[in-house]
Amino acid sequence: MRSIAPHGGRLINRLVPPEEREETRRRVSSLKRIYLNRRQLSDLDLIGTGALSPLEGFMGEADYERVVKEMHLASGLPWSIPVTLAVRVGQAASVAVGEEIILLDEHGELRGLLELQEKFPYDKKREASEVYRTTDGTHPGVHALYAQGEVLLAGPIRILEPPDYQTYHPYHLTPAETRQAFMDRGWRTIVGFQTRNPVHRAHEYIQKCALEMVDGLLLHPLVGETKEDDIPAETRLRCYEVLLDGYYPKDRVMLAVLPAAMRYAGPREAIFHALMRKNYGCTHFIVGRDHAGVGNYYGTFDAHTIFRDFSPDELGITPLFFDHAFYCRRCQGMATTKTCPHGPEERVSLSGTKVREMLHRVELPPPEYSRREVAEVLVQWANTDQYRI
Ligand code: ADX
Repeated sequence: MRSIAPHGGRLINRLVPPEEREETRRRVSSLKRIYLNRRQLSDLDLIGTGALSPLEGFMGEADYERVVKEMHLASGLPWSIPVTLAVRVGQAASVAVGEEIILLDEHGELRGLLELQEKFPYDKKREASEVYRTTDGTHPGVHALYAQGEVLLAGPIRILEPPDYQTYHPYHLTPAETRQAFMDRGWRTIVGFQTRNPVHRAHEYIQKCALEMVDGLLLHPLVGETKEDDIPAETRLRCYEVLLDGYYPKDRVMLAVLPAAMRYAGPREAIFHALMRKNYGCTHFIVGRDHAGVGNYYGTFDAHTIFRDFSPDELGITPLFFDHAFYCRRCQGMATTKTCPHGPEERVSLSGTKVREMLHRVELPPPEYSRREVAEVLVQWANTDQYRI
């Protein structure tokens, strides 16, 4: 049995083997250093483990330009989001093309190496309007873009010290590991599910509809940086644990984390999310309503229509599109606008903000919206000290 080919045909592995780490550390200790923020570290990790195959490093200018303008890499492969290393002008001036540079985390721990092949300026406004479809600095993805450095450093990376994923144990699996796990289970077709929110009944409904059509379901919550008012990854994982215990067949479902930062780029991010899941070994990918959206920046189904810009062959992963799902009182079950003829007055549909307000009042969201076990986890979390609305 063979798994689906990674994007570009080869799963990238840029990890320095454990037996070479000590020696490499000694060799590079006097090199120039750059501190990465949490987002950049996520990208480093994703590149190094092959989740962003075929990328072997931070993008150079030819890839960057073509991705921003045409959603393809310079090689012609589809790619929708720039993966870049932005630094301040002064920092860029202190390093020269051809140098090897040490990459450190915020605590000064040595994490990786960059072989600097290019440094180039870029136009943030243009990137915002092309990639995020808005130049509004209050959009969280655009906000992060405007706040980052003015020069992009590019070149292949290597990971010297993978992040400590103890918090997510046993759910941190690399693309090579999920691929192996799918093979071990004998799954030929696997649907991936991206999520940044606590699981609710609409999620469950579209996951299970998809699972009716394939061998296995990879629940793949994103656990990198999200916006402040999103619910923490540990709590979201706990929600999945109680849900899986009670309502999912164990041999058909796997839970693992995606250590990526959220960009909130809506349609472009849907393509990006799908390509990453292809690298993790998924053959199918769920795209629901306002996928990776925020506020009212994107149309409800923009993340569906963007797939028409690509031929199915070039993406290599099959999107499964879902309309808005909800509980309908008249149907007495979950449905979507595609399957239910009744009006909005019959539907139980709550916004994230509404749910957060309920949790704040120590009120369980209704069972038509959220399974009781999941709602209890959320209410418990809402009552801890760190909770802020
Ligand atoms: S996202 O930023 O990761 O897209 P979220 O975790 O809410 O946010 O959504 C995960 C997936 O479920 C996305 O594909 C999204 O489009 C889909 N989705 C969320 N809510 C609904 C809903 N009520 N109906 C249909 N699809 C939904």
